[in-house]
Amino acid sequence: MEILGIDVGGTGIKAAIVSVETGALSAEKKRIPTPRPATPEAVAKVIHKLVKHFKWDGPVGCGFPTPLHHGKCLSGGNLHEDWNGVNVSQLFKNETGNEFTVVNDADAAGIAEINFGAGKDKKGVVIMITLGTGIGSAIFLDGKLLPNTEFGHLYNWHGDSFESYAADSARKREKLSQKKWGKRLDKYFNHLNFILSPDLIIIGGGASKRVHKFIHKIEVDTAIVPAEAENEAGIIGAAMAAKFEIK
Ligand code: BGC
Repeated sequence: MEILGIDVGGTGIKAAIVSVETGALSAEKKRIPTPRPATPEAVAKVIHKLVKHFKWDGPVGCGFPTPLHHGKCLSGGNLHEDWNGVNVSQLFKNETGNEFTVVNDADAAGIAEINFGAGKDKKGVVIMITLGTGIGSAIFLDGKLLPNTEFGHLYNWHGDSFESYAADSARKREKLSQKKWGKRLDKYFNHLNFILSPDLIIIGGGASKRVHKFIHKIEVDTAIVPAEAENEAGIIGAAMAAKFEIK
């Protein structure tokens, strides 16, 4: 079965047709920069363009970079404050005419890694942390997701969220060397490790492409590995999430 997977990010909106049995992309992915301001109307237009690009009239799974309670956006996050309270799947369905399943983007990436990637067949507590414009989190116990965790929004000892201190966007904004950023990541992952006692930590998001540059700076007492699907995990997992809902 094929489903169109879409990953809405702070800088780009990416889509591909995904075979949900294997997690493979069946056609080349397409990326459109996230419009600024990223209002609901502007983002919905980009979603429509992507659906038309693939001439897709089937179901769509979409990873979205905010917490979603029963489909309703709980904060504008790194997009725009107008998202607050919007029913995202309804908005995209109205715009395109397709059936939409919308889940948190980090949850989507985690679903892909648990099914096909670094977390496959792993028992116990597995956490996935995505490093990009924001910091996203997904947590699984024996393969089952606890949705909408926001561990990027834990606060550090300066009173700032770890997201504003250690996301990839913080590295760019403050022009941090890999070494300095690595030290911040080390503090963040040690804190997570202490409060969650995971059996495995998976790093995903935009930064997972160059994980070899910083992963050795993170010294935790737990196995820590890059996402196997790298930044495509978000697209694959979004399609998987739609499959589960439709089944
Ligand atoms: C949002 C999360 C999201 C993460 C990564 C955070 O700012 O609160 O919901 O998963 O960014 O996009």
